[in-house]
Amino acid sequence: MKLEQNYSLKHLNTFGIDQRAASYVLLQEGAELAEAIKQAKGLGQELRVLGGGSNLLLTQDQPHFFVQPGFDNIQVVEESNTTVQVRVDAGFNWHKWVLYSLNQGWYGLENLSLIPGMVGAAPIQNIGAYGVEVKDFVKEVHFRSLRDASQHVLSNEECRFAYRDSLFKQELKGEIFIESVVFELLKQPNINTSYGAIEQELELMAVKNPSPKDVSAAVIKIRQSKLPDPAVLGNSGSFFKNPILPIGQVNSLQEQFPNIPVYPISKQEAKVAAGWLIEQSGWKGKRVGPCGVHEKQALVLVNYGGASGAQVLSLAKDVISAVEEKFSVSLEPEVNVW
Ligand code: EPU
Repeated sequence: MKLEQNYSLKHLNTFGIDQRAASYVLLQEGAELAEAIKQAKGLGQELRVLGGGSNLLLTQDQPHFFVQPGFDNIQVVEESNTTVQVRVDAGFNWHKWVLYSLNQGWYGLENLSLIPGMVGAAPIQNIGAYGVEVKDFVKEVHFRSLRDASQHVLSNEECRFAYRDSLFKQELKGEIFIESVVFELLKQPNINTSYGAIEQELELMAVKNPSPKDVSAAVIKIRQSKLPDPAVLGNSGSFFKNPILPIGQVNSLQEQFPNIPVYPISKQEAKVAAGWLIEQSGWKGKRVGPCGVHEKQALVLVNYGGASGAQVLSLAKDVISAVEEKFSVSLEPEVNVW
């Protein structure tokens, strides 16, 4: 276990923001967490877990002790004629895992292709795209306590997954280190092309009977056409969540703005597209100094180079105010602001 001190996190967050961690350790196995807890105590620093840094805005130097999973094994734990259960270590790159699963003939994750980050972070905010959420394929989450490194397992139901949310973002926030995730995947394809953009892309690709790999290829194309590549332009994907509003408020918004995209959730609530609200508020493609709102997807804030976290946060606040003023809707960040 190699302890780094006063360590730049610039290459460890997809916004590319240059802030430092008081301490940083890349763990080679989950059991090393016990030693990290001891060292952090000795230094009087709080433990923080860093994943792929793709859902994170650093606004200051961090006086904390960061641990990151540096292990990435894959193990089949159970198999039947129709399904396979696979345990994947937290440090495995998410997109690499999706491609690996498809190559094995294990299906279900195709719509979640090209999402940045690590496997261990996927359940925390229940990553989702194109009509699929990771909760649909998570069987168990294995984690350790940040207090005493003890090991625990939660079943899918116990994780209390919801839209961009789970127990790990609520009661267990800051308390745990996810070690591995057990997925239950299908051996027969059961593709989901309900999301309009996928069907259109498959048509453009002239694919008649799409396989899961075709769906993955279509999702990759859609994402590449709308979302900036963090290796080229710093960003953390959707900066804001799509707000979930009471149905009465949605109805009155629809009366005033008939084109507003609405996604029904229940009789009481519906989700509206934050990207649309931001675009209609005039912020899409706007640049403020070194950062701005992405020109192809208004939900994404970008770092054109050299932006500080504080500058990005100030831009986010301006966007929130503009949407509040025009629509009386309060947008909430999806990313963690540290
Ligand atoms: N829209 C606009 N202007 C914009 C962006 C979107 O008018 O600048 C409209 C679109 O025309 C569409 C609606 O808003 O009618 C929804 O847009 P889109 O399908 O692009 O999806 P989204 O709501 O913007 C969500 C996720 C994405 C995920 C896509 C596809 C959230 C916060 N974001 O975006 O996730 O890839 O759906 O399923 O739920 C991420 O979390 O980082 C992320 C990229």
